[in-house]
Amino acid sequence: MDYEIRPLTQGFGAEIFGLDLASGFSDNLAQDLVGAWVDAGGLMVIHNQTLSSEQHIALSRHFGPLFGDPNESPLQDTVSRYIHPDHPEIYRVSNQVSTDGKPKGRKGAGTYWHSDVSFRDRPAQASLLHAKTIPPVGGDTIFADQAAAYEALSDGMKAILDPLYAWHDFEVAARTQYAKPVIAENDMDGANRARHPLVRTKPENNSKSLFVNPGFTSHIDGLDAAESQAILDFLYQHSIQPQFLYRHRWNEGDLLIWDNRSLMHFAVMDYPDDEPRYMERCTVIGETPA
Ligand code: SIN
Repeated sequence: MDYEIRPLTQGFGAEIFGLDLASGFSDNLAQDLVGAWVDAGGLMVIHNQTLSSEQHIALSRHFGPLFGDPNESPLQDTVSRYIHPDHPEIYRVSNQVSTDGKPKGRKGAGTYWHSDVSFRDRPAQASLLHAKTIPPVGGDTIFADQAAAYEALSDGMKAILDPLYAWHDFEVAARTQYAKPVIAENDMDGANRARHPLVRTKPENNSKSLFVNPGFTSHIDGLDAAESQAILDFLYQHSIQPQFLYRHRWNEGDLLIWDNRSLMHFAVMDYPDDEPRYMERCTVIGETPA
């Protein structure tokens, strides 16, 4: 299958035109897309897709095992009501409510800088988000390249950060982003808390990225609270400078694939409730960060 690939920014990202994955795709094509995604720094938009849920899941499995796959971890309990009723591998994001009063998806998902599921021992690698319905304007998603942000630091700062570890805890987002009543008790039992290197290396190409995010990182291991906060505040300011960003303006049918190991993202919720937004996401379980 022929397709055209164009860079999205000077630094990272690629967009693909001319593919119709709904008409079927070979393992070779899927593996080529995974390779092109790695080469593009872990951000790829495949335009104009009408994938079924089964095809979305099948393509996602070429990146790795999925949260919700048989014998794999589900996402945290707090979001279980947003999982697709027929496909536990699909997490739904939406501002809409069904006629039975149940939400069609998590409203306001990811409206803060974060890396998906960074609070697990094996956090997310790729997330594959398929835009089914989007508002006429707004609802963009912004990505920040944490490999470029790391590279831009001085050698002295890299030497300070390289040996450090940080704690990631779903409770940070639960406290600041979720209404208290939806926090399930068993989200606090330790499964959603993990210690990761502050600078992680992608095994595919040995590139290093900052790996802390305001959504889920609670503190840097072994430092006083004030020291930890000062470093995190510096990194959060540093890592969202304009030269590290790409802002995606969605079209219906866009399939956006990002690498949570080297990108943070932020969903901009600037659209009203009467303008529907409905997206489906498969989330790939990554390796233990090193
Ligand atoms: C997410 O964090 O997965 C949601 C992104 C979006 O809705 O744009």
